[in-house]
Amino acid sequence: MSKKLFVETLGCAMNSRDSEHMIAELREKEGYEIIDNFEDADLILINTCSVRERPVHKLFSELGGFQKKKKAGAKIGVCGCTASHLGDEIIKRAPYVNFVLGARNVSKITEVLHKDKAVEIAINYDESEFAFKDFRSSPYKAYINISIGCDKSCTFCIVPQTRGEEISIPEYLIVNEAKKAVSTGAKEIFLLGQNVNNYGRRFSGTQEKINFTELLRRLSQIEGLERIRFTSPHPFHMDDEFIEEFAKNPKICKSMHMPLQSGSTKVLKDMKRGYSKEWFLNRVEKLRSMCPDVTISTDIIVAFPSESAEDFEETLAVMREVKFDQIFSFKYSPRPHTEAESFTNLVDEELGSERLSTLQLLHNELLDEKNATLLGNIYTVYFEDLNRDNFVAGRSDNNIVIKVKGSEELLGEIRDVKITSIGRTILTGEILA
Ligand code: 5AD
Ligand code: SF4
Repeated sequence: MSKKLFVETLGCAMNSRDSEHMIAELREKEGYEIIDNFEDADLILINTCSVRERPVHKLFSELGGFQKKKKAGAKIGVCGCTASHLGDEIIKRAPYVNFVLGARNVSKITEVLHKDKAVEIAINYDESEFAFKDFRSSPYKAYINISIGCDKSCTFCIVPQTRGEEISIPEYLIVNEAKKAVSTGAKEIFLLGQNVNNYGRRFSGTQEKINFTELLRRLSQIEGLERIRFTSPHPFHMDDEFIEEFAKNPKICKSMHMPLQSGSTKVLKDMKRGYSKEWFLNRVEKLRSMCPDVTISTDIIVAFPSESAEDFEETLAVMREVKFDQIFSFKYSPRPHTEAESFTNLVDEELGSERLSTLQLLHNELLDEKNATLLGNIYTVYFEDLNRDNFVAGRSDNNIVIKVKGSEELLGEIRDVKITSIGRTILTGEILA
């Protein structure tokens, strides 16, 4: 009988891809089969995120739950960013954990599995880290890493510590992965990196140096590939050449993530983001003028140290001006060993929560207004998910989630859909042809 594996993944798309890689390794080399209930598992992996404090707390409470109800003899491994960041402290706090594997070390999963209390968190430059194995949680879309780590030093962010310096993955490996995914039926690739449009800044070997725009051009030549998405680009690196390629290349999906973080140039400076409010707005304008159908999503942090009422107002003003299609908003959470950890002028907790809800309410208002104008529009949808209630859901080229009545025959198909009813996060429509 095969051994059973349960994986819980928290955090970003990079973590999800790391989980796919570990699952592939464990299936291929150790004969594991993946299951959905941890009580029956022989191995429980928790792949964590440490970007804010809450997921770190969640890790320890989840671990306690796993330990209580797991099968006798089942192993527990902690992987990902919190593993990198806390290392052996995890085993000190939860001594029943069998191993700890950092975000930069996931390729070593089958090694640490057999070493009790192993802690593998070194940040090295082994190219085997790039050679991700074949396991894809969706047959329709392939997540592909194009770089690992981050070279920025945003003062609030723990990622450069957990994922290390930024290294671009050689272009030929990315193109090969994309071709392989397309040959097995995926019509969409989703390129991943902490800072994708900084691609090409540093390779570990002597590859031909190409930038992100050129990588997009080359990938779009793959026959059978219909859609290219990516996350996250950095507003600082959105030069004209990049925006122009984005706008004119029909294979690049017209949705852009532009992490604003704050609408106040003063706060952006304290955050060391490298751009001003004016630069951000200028990039949005250029993007919208070249590509009117583009949808824009963003990340915003409220209550960063020293954020005044006026600074916060500036963030709200940018929101009103840009009318983001989606926001991921957070209250600032001090992270260990980051520069901002030592900033003293902290914003009161309650005021921070108030700002967060003000921001989210404004976003919902703006979104409702915007969504109301979408009724009757026609979108080209790539269907990927079968819902329980006889609906099939997919995304438009510009990343709007749309569902239609239908069955599994629609999965993997691309169809034109007319919008017949509007919800805040999902629209309903009818297939035209
Ligand atoms: N506090 C709050 N939010 C944070 N993020 C990163 N670090 C922190 C922090 N210390 C947010 C940023 C980033 C997103 C992935 O998480 O908005 O873009
Ligand atoms: Fe963190 Fe800034 Fe790098 Fe994003 S660009 S991962 S926020 S340091």
